Parts: sequence; structure tokens; C-alpha cells
Amino acid sequence: MSPENPWTLFKRPIVALAPMDGVTDRAFRQVVRRLNPEVLLYSEFTSINGIEHSGQVRERLRFENMELPYLVQLFGREPALFAKIAQEISDQGISGIDINLGCPSKRIVQNGNGAALIKEPDLACQIVEATAKATHLPVTVKTRLGWSDAENLIPFAKSLESAGAQLITIHGRTAKMGYRGEADWEPIYELKKALSIPVLGNGDLRGGDQGKGQLKNLDGFMIGRASLGNPWVFWSEEKRAEVTLRDKIEVMIEHLQALLSYQPEHKALIEFRKHLGGYVSGFRDAKVARRELMESQSPSEFTQRALSLVS
Ligand SMILES: Cc1cc2nc3c(=O)[nH]c(=O)nc-3n(C[C@H](O)[C@H](O)[C@H](O)COP(=O)(O)O)c2cc1C
Repeated sequence: MSPENPWTLFKRPIVALAPMDGVTDRAFRQVVRRLNPEVLLYSEFTSINGIEHSGQVRERLRFENMELPYLVQLFGREPALFAKIAQEISDQGISGIDINLGCPSKRIVQNGNGAALIKEPDLACQIVEATAKATHLPVTVKTRLGWSDAENLIPFAKSLESAGAQLITIHGRTAKMGYRGEADWEPIYELKKALSIPVLGNGDLRGGDQGKGQLKNLDGFMIGRASLGNPWVFWSEEKRAEVTLRDKIEVMIEHLQALLSYQPEHKALIEFRKHLGGYVSGFRDAKVARRELMESQSPSEFTQRALSLVS
């Protein structure tokens, strides 16, 4: 492993909040950071073409220093444009650039982006190489087991490593599986034996204890869906059991306030809905509470209703 790879110095296990489009926005990252000083944070995946042409898309990358360590995740399929964007964003104080080679959604794949690049390994490597050459920051990759099976995972990841990837995260599903079935971590453990860069496992984790339990030879793990409305997800079961309903309400209000700091009221309330179910689970009459909060017409009404749940 090259001594200049910063991930080799990172405290083990490396624990990360998985990048999620529409979920891991600035507000949620800040809430997660306050409760988890060491968790690695990622932006939502962002199109290099979008960054090139739209100020609104560039907005997605904005962050505050408290979010560090924070990586920007990019998707696209043009090595030269990756290099250009990497150069442009490198001096903005971010911790690294992650390349998405795993998104299986139709909209992404039919344009040859995300998981489609698993079927074009040479191009995927050119993207990693061009990006790594264009920046002083570490370049990382997030991908899946493969397109329809894990047969090529090891040669694919080895070539990404040779192209300059300094850390790789594997979601233990194939692109074809989408989000169906169960994540299989066995090929990820096998992969780690073949690489010298750090490897993170991802898929179906419900919490930090489970992540540590499944770690084996890996360098870390990443949690995605289980974090919705549950920024405590990385904590141990024991510590999570101490989180009170009042704590949940207070963090929920903090989260909404963070959204309001850069979103209009109606948009902030709509964005927040994704997390609502997670926050109120465990409450008596959670369904009723969720519906009442969902129907709030303004942030102050939301806050009032939320506080009344624990008064
Ligand atoms: C709503 C949603 C959005 C996602 N967006 C991204 C993304 O922008 N970039 C990415 O690499 N993966 C994305 N993913 C995949 C997650 O990062 C993660 O790999 C996947 O959810 C499996 O982990 P989990 O079982 O812990 O959720 C997304 C997943 C979900 C559910």
C-alpha cells in the first residue's frame, strides 16, 4: 500500500454514511456529523455534466467544514470531463472524490453511467485514472458485486486500484438485483484478500454493531437506508437504547431547522418527510404521530406538534 494513501491512516473501522440521492443532503449530513464526529460523509451522487452546465447542480456539493471528512461523489462517463471537474472542485476543502460505478437505476444506466460502467471496465479505469491525475485528493470508487454476478469483481477492482483508486466500497448486490434479495458480503471478503487499498462493505446493515460484526478482514463499512430518520444508527445497541423520545424530537427539529437554513419552508417540509417515519418509530401511536406531523402546514406547526408528542 502506498504510504501516501490517506485512508491507511484513518481510524479503523472506517465507518461511512452511504451516499444517497435525495437523502444525504447538507442538512442530514450535519445532523449525522453532530452525533457521529468520525463518520465519513459523502455528497449525493452528482452528474459531472450537470456540474459543468448548471449552478443549481453545483449547489448540491455545498458543505460546511463541520461535515469534514466529506467526499464528493460524481457520476458520468467522460474521463476528460471528470478530470476538469475534479480539478475545479479540488481546492474547495473537500476530503476526496468518489466515483459512482454502481447506480443501477434505469435513468442512469441507459445513459451509460453508474453501474453501466461495470460493463465497460476499460472506460471505468480511464475515468479513475484521469480523475486521479487531475487532483491531489484521494480518489475512491463505489460499485457493486458485478453486473449480473460477482465473477469479474476481483479483476475489475484490481484494475481500478491500478488506475489510481485509493479506497473501494462494494455494495454486496449485483446491478441486476437492484435492491432486491439480500446483500452477499462473501465476495467482498474475497476481494479484500486480492487488493492492497482499503475496502468497505455495504448492504443491509441495520446498525454499527452489525457492521463491526460483519467486518472480518475489511477496513470498514457503510450504512445507507437504515440511517433514514435514524442518525444514531452508527451507535452501539447499548448506547442507542439510551436515546429518549425527547432526544429524537429535538434532533428531528434540529434537522428541519438545518433544511430551513437553505430551503424554502414548503420544500424543507417535503424533504423532511423522507425521514419522518424513521424518527417517530418507537413512539406510541407512531402512525398517528407521523400523519399529524406530515400534515403540518408550516415549520412552526410542525415543531409545536412534535413537542406535544413528548410533553
Ligand atoms: C434513496 C437512495 C438513494 C441512493 N443514492 C445513491 C447515490 O447517490 N450514490 C451511491 O453510490 N449509492 C446510492 N444509493 C445506494 C446506497 O449508497 C447503498 O449502497 C445501498 O442503499 C445499500 O446499502 P444499505 O442496505 O445500507 O442501504 C442509494 C440508495 C438509496 C436507497
